[in-house]
Amino acid sequence: MVLDAWRLAIHRASEVFRHAARRGIELDFLNLGGGWPAHYAGTPPPLETYAASVNAALQQHFGASKPKLFVEPGRYMVADAGIVVSEVVLVAERPHERVPRWVYVDAGIYAGLEETSGERIRYRLLVPGPGRPSGPVVLSGPTCDSADVLYRHQVELPLDIAPGERVIFLSAGAYTATCSSVDFNGFPPLTMQCV
Ligand SMILES: Cc1ncc(COP(=O)(O)O)c(C=O)c1O
Repeated sequence: MVLDAWRLAIHRASEVFRHAARRGIELDFLNLGGGWPAHYAGTPPPLETYAASVNAALQQHFGASKPKLFVEPGRYMVADAGIVVSEVVLVAERPHERVPRWVYVDAGIYAGLEETSGERIRYRLLVPGPGRPSGPVVLSGPTCDSADVLYRHQVELPLDIAPGERVIFLSAGAYTATCSSVDFNGFPPLTMQCV
């Protein structure tokens, strides 16, 4: 589970603190960095759960001499403040593929959705309109580059989705506009609207 990342890091950091102390160097703060949760697919534990895990690890490894803490929240602060609005440009049937329906949208790995690479960030998707029967698809970017496939697994869209419709990536306010290429294969970069 993701909380183990801090437990292990705090353990390792405590060893560094002790090594430094043996050499007469008193370290007094610890930077826990980023990684705090945003609302991607799957509900993250509440922040209190992260805090409890961090506090337990501090207690276990630092005891009474806990360091001051810094944190560097990135996506936790801004992801939910933005969305990426894409448009379907093509729906293709590929009968020999494991998932035969491919939906291509005009945002992709090179136009803001770099964090879908390896399917490591799974954005929640919204297709405007009343509930429609949906089924599995492969969701792809528009560039024909083999890396520009957003999701091959566990993604469903309305069965009748058609070019021109919107597919909205929710909680996409972090690492999207800033990660958009300027002109990959001649595709324009993601434009940003602030409201
Ligand atoms: C040094 C540093 N700290 C914190 C962050 C924030 O990370 P996240 O948005 O995953 O919480 C980043 C992200 O690039 C970073 O480079």
